[in-house]
Amino acid sequence: MKPVVLYYSKTGKTRLMAEAIASALNAPAMDLTAADIAAVGSYDLLVLGTPVNGARPAAEAMPYIATIPQCPGKKSVVFCTYAMFKGSTLKVLERELSKKGFQTVLSVAKKGVKQGETDFSDVQRQVSEAASKV
Ligand SMILES: Cc1cc2nc3c(=O)[nH]c(=O)nc-3n(C[C@H](O)[C@H](O)[C@H](O)COP(=O)(O)O)c2cc1C
Repeated sequence: MKPVVLYYSKTGKTRLMAEAIASALNAPAMDLTAADIAAVGSYDLLVLGTPVNGARPAAEAMPYIATIPQCPGKKSVVFCTYAMFKGSTLKVLERELSKKGFQTVLSVAKKGVKQGETDFSDVQRQVSEAASKV
């Protein structure tokens, strides 16, 4: 099983979560704004995350998410970091990926991530378990 982690991060907190997930899955973590997004089709599991901005995924991420290729039947995990209220962020990410044929098997949010935070063990456990079933 070959997973990939794609993320957008404005101030680095979502990047910390993305890197922790990537480390748990032994997968690459790629910044959405710099990644070869067309290559997503060569992976078995897409893990996609953004920060919450205005109770939705960060707007800057959306044009990149729109370029994810059609991947009928592939599995996905969506995640976000947020301060207080995540609103519809994970639902929007799930919906965008379902338009591309993905089935989201796990949605996970982490509140109040701080700069330099290193303990993502709860998230790592959840994502590893979901990935083991793909
Ligand atoms: C423009 C802006 C809008 C935000 N809107 C929300 C929000 O609606 N709800 C919330 O809980 N956090 C909100 N936040 C806080 C971020 O989601 C949170 O700090 C996140 O972990 C930042 O991730 P990043 O460092 O990867 O950009 C907002 C932050 C910014 C800069």
